[in-house]
Formats: sequence, C-alpha cells, structure tokens
Amino acid sequence: MPVTLTPEKQEEMFSAARAAFKNAHAPYSNFRVGSAILTERGVLYSGCNVENASYGLTICAERAAVCAAVAAGARRLRRAVVVTDADPPAAPCGACRQVLSEFGRDLRVNAVGPAGAVSWTMAELLPAAFGPEQLP
Ligand code: THU
Repeated sequence: MPVTLTPEKQEEMFSAARAAFKNAHAPYSNFRVGSAILTERGVLYSGCNVENASYGLTICAERAAVCAAVAAGARRLRRAVVVTDADPPAAPCGACRQVLSEFGRDLRVNAVGPAGAVSWTMAELLPAAFGPEQLP
C-alpha cells in the first residue's frame, strides 16, 4: 500500500474532516475539531469532538473517527487528518496519539488550520510508543 495519497484522495479526506468539524459539539471549549481517517483498504471514516456538560466525558475527534473505523471492521489505518481553527494547526493530544498508534504504527497525520497544514509520522508524534509488544 503506497504511503502517498493522490491529491484527489487527500482533498476528499480534508473535506470529510471539514464536514465533521462543522458538526463538532463543543459548546464548552468552543474549540471544534474534525477528523478523517483512511483505512489501509481505502475506506474513509470521520469524527468530531463531542463535549458534555460533565466535562471529563468529552470525546476527541480523532478517537471518535478511530472508533467508527474499528466498529466497521478496520484494524489498520493509513492516514489521519485533523482540522481545527488553530494556527499553527493543532496536533492530536497525547491520548489520541496512543489510540492512533494502536492501529497505525506507520500512520501519517495531517493537521489543517486556517493558515496552512502540517504533517507528521506517528513515530515523530509518539516516539518510544507503548504497544502490544510490551505486554507479556
Ligand atoms: N480535542 C480533540 O478533539 N482532539 C485533540 O486531539 C485535542 C483536543 C478536543 C477536546 C475538547 O473538546 C476540545 O478539543 C478542547 O480541548
């Protein structure tokens, strides 16, 4: 499976993440996040942050997208896009990095903001990751 995406597929991902961004439920932080995830089989899933009046129950966009992909049967993820209003673009939080890493050790993450985009490998975002090989 090639690591690079066609410009069309990348645009499709950005637009899925933007659509999810618009649906974010973030009345407490007012920080909306939309995410799109491409599986190794080429299927796209999206998620947004879903906040709650009980603040600690908030679900991040990336983890919502991962859960949608996994619930549909995916186990290997190839690309993740995260859209926010942040400049510079916001990277996934630590918890999301750990969850993304479970299904995508070779994943590339694109963060998109109003003034540009940044991209990282999972190894850059989560060096010395904890994974299944640490478990007995
Ligand atoms: N948030 C995400 O959705 N993903 C992240 O990686 C970082 C934070 C959300 C959680 C909360 O709704 C808002 O952004 C502010 O922290």
